[in-house]
Amino acid sequence: MSMEEESERFEVRKLEISDKTKGFIELLQQLTVCNSLSDDEFNSRFQDLSSYGDDHMICVIEDKNLKKIVGTGSVFLEKKFVRNCGKVGHIEDVVVDLSARGMKLGQKVIEFLTNHAKLNGCYKVILDCSVENKGFYEKCGFKHKEIQMAMYFDN
Ligand SMILES: CC(C)(COP(=O)(O)OP(=O)(O)OC[C@H]1O[C@@H](n2cnc3c(N)ncnc32)[C@H](O)[C@@H]1OP(=O)(O)O)[C@@H](O)C(=O)NCCC(=O)NCCS
Repeated sequence: MSMEEESERFEVRKLEISDKTKGFIELLQQLTVCNSLSDDEFNSRFQDLSSYGDDHMICVIEDKNLKKIVGTGSVFLEKKFVRNCGKVGHIEDVVVDLSARGMKLGQKVIEFLTNHAKLNGCYKVILDCSVENKGFYEKCGFKHKEIQMAMYFDN
């Protein structure tokens, strides 16, 4: 596939409400526990997130031939007091469909999210990942820093 054919086939854009019918939830299920949602549940969460405006953004990649979402990731822009009331971008929930891995789509998702954070005034963007994915994020320009801590609740 030529570069031109590829960029026509794979559209990188923000999540739209109709993406539920294009396999968006099924894609998230490849990442972690994600129950099927009713249209009402999906629409309600979509509206909640829209109320954050540019401070929350979900990127998707649609395979236009298949009308299927094959990549996604999100970024949340956290407003701080430190660094002159600076903002930090937090990248979450990055996944590329098994059938489409190794085609630089993951890299495109990360570029879209980091550009959004930069354009909206963040001084840095950070994320947590598994040891297995360290190399991927290094290819995307990230550097290993500090360690991640977590506390899970039973509810
Ligand atoms: C991690 C993931 C998003 C990568 O997406 P992808 O579209 O297959 O990756 P890309 O094709 O954009 O890879 C970009 C570069 O990183 C490299 N790369 C990809 N995954 C890698 C890994 N796990 N370790 C080391 N390098 C990796 C690629 O070889 C490519 O290198 P190149 O530029 O030298 O060719 C995808 O494998 C995935 O969805 N995995 C399962 C879910 C997951 O773990 N998500 C991350 C949560 S932190």
